[in-house]
Amino acid sequence: MAGWVSNLFKKKEFLIGVDIGASGIKLIELDLTGEKPALRNIGYAPVTGEIFSNNAISKPEKIAEQIAALLESNAVSDKRAVTAMPGPSVFTKKIKMQNMPHSELSDNIQFEAANFIPHNIDAVRLDYHVIGTSGKNQLDVLVVAVKNEIIDSFLSTLSLAGLETAVVDVDHFAVQNMFEMGYPEDISKTVALINMGARYAGINIVRDGISLFTGDIPVGGKLFTDALVAELGVAADVAEKLKRSPNGDAQYPQAKEIVDKNVEFVASEFNRQLSFFWNASGAEEGIDKIVLCGGGALVPGLVQEIAEKTGIECTLADPLRGVSVGSSFDALYLKEIGPLMGVCVGMAMRQPGDRVVWQD
Ligand SMILES: Nc1ncnc2c1ncn2[C@@H]1O[C@H](COP(=O)(O)OP(=O)(O)OP(=O)(O)O)[C@@H](O)[C@H]1O
Ligand SMILES: [Mg+2]
Repeated sequence: MAGWVSNLFKKKEFLIGVDIGASGIKLIELDLTGEKPALRNIGYAPVTGEIFSNNAISKPEKIAEQIAALLESNAVSDKRAVTAMPGPSVFTKKIKMQNMPHSELSDNIQFEAANFIPHNIDAVRLDYHVIGTSGKNQLDVLVVAVKNEIIDSFLSTLSLAGLETAVVDVDHFAVQNMFEMGYPEDISKTVALINMGARYAGINIVRDGISLFTGDIPVGGKLFTDALVAELGVAADVAEKLKRSPNGDAQYPQAKEIVDKNVEFVASEFNRQLSFFWNASGAEEGIDKIVLCGGGALVPGLVQEIAEKTGIECTLADPLRGVSVGSSFDALYLKEIGPLMGVCVGMAMRQPGDRVVWQD
């Protein structure tokens, strides 16, 4: 009874997912108290110029200002947030450990990690997850490490925006979280989740709720824009428009050919790297399906070309598929920004106390 009373009066806490990308900031708040996650707030702010230097945020004041403006325009009053590290900044390794009490595991992993992490152990934040057992006495452990300077740049940016960081996620794992919530019918398949942003395509190959492989391919939406700028001599905003035109543009008849050529290049890279990664990881079964999200995946023809080059079924995810969306939200706006929200939906599903890379 006492528990029931205290639950009833306890203020519900909602964590705000804040995804800081090279081309835009995404913000989502979900209400996780019902049967299905419900959208409370969603916002997007485009970013101009370079804001990252080696995956650390190099313009914290500018980004913080934009986050604060998004919070204000969406009337978000909560103060605790989830942020996600860019996949390429994260070092992950699966190791086997002797089974031991959790209290000892942490120290032992810290000690072991010093041997395989390519940075000074004092220069990184470390986290781990026990992902299974092999044999009687062994644990399979996924170790995750991020350089302090990168994580700190995100924490201080959020802090400048008036937010406290409750959970630090990794974009690959956030996409997995979104996928498992929105696509439960595909959980037992071997699925390559690909989040293609502006800078890179993050890959997380999953099955039965377990990440089997993570890696990155250095191709993103920016590649198409840069090619159009270089070959046509147009400004970046014109190139952005051209690459979104599936039927080409009368004023720039060569644009479609340039986009198509790069679609073919990117699809070939995916095919090459995916099979390389997958063979190197020692997997015996094939990949059943490729599921894409992120703005880079929206370039006309890319999804079809990847399916053709890889011979694997390939679809575009709708990150809001598993989320209930009230009628007060603008459907047209959601259609436009929804596809960019894969990482952010997964982040907004984290609960206080979840451990991904680090928690308070
Ligand atoms: N409708 C569209 N058609 C084609 N490309 C698009 C479309 N919408 C967005 N993009 C491209 O997608 C990219 C932005 O996607 P996203 O928001 O997922 O990236 P990001 O998170 O900012 O980048 P990163 O994760 O690499 O830091 C940009 O290159 C943009 O030009
Ligand atoms: Mg991104």
